[in-house]
Amino acid sequence: MKVSVGSDHGGFDLKELVVAFLRDSGHEVVDVGCHSPTSCDYPDFARDVCEQVLSGSCERGILICGTGIGMSIAANRHREIRAALCHEGFSARMSREHNNANVLCLGARVTGPELALDIVGQWMVSEFAGGRHQRRLDMLS
Ligand code: RB5
Repeated sequence: MKVSVGSDHGGFDLKELVVAFLRDSGHEVVDVGCHSPTSCDYPDFARDVCEQVLSGSCERGILICGTGIGMSIAANRHREIRAALCHEGFSARMSREHNNANVLCLGARVTGPELALDIVGQWMVSEFAGGRHQRRLDMLS
């Protein structure tokens, strides 16, 4: 799967791990930055990842900042983006099965690296269940 991944400085170290994990798992990754731990602004990276998902050039996106909150707020301003801020694997799986989340947000200062990679792994293999959940998504658009 082709995945767009971005972070601000608060998520930089975890992003590097996530990018390596995804590539090791056989996914194609577009790393939109940031490319160093120098202070930067999360809305820039949320926009770039969301634009790639909305254009169809990437199937899904992953956004990481210190808490994941800024990234999720920024991403969910886009009408067809369903961004899920997840702190454990169950929510990550449900965000795909019930909410068809196309962007996963993580907080690098909240969620440790091992748990974060478990979340990413579960999110990547989970699929939308459709049915009654599609009706509910239709009510949002
Ligand atoms: C940056 O210090 C921090 O505010 C940012 O990474 C994020 O947590 C915002 O929601």
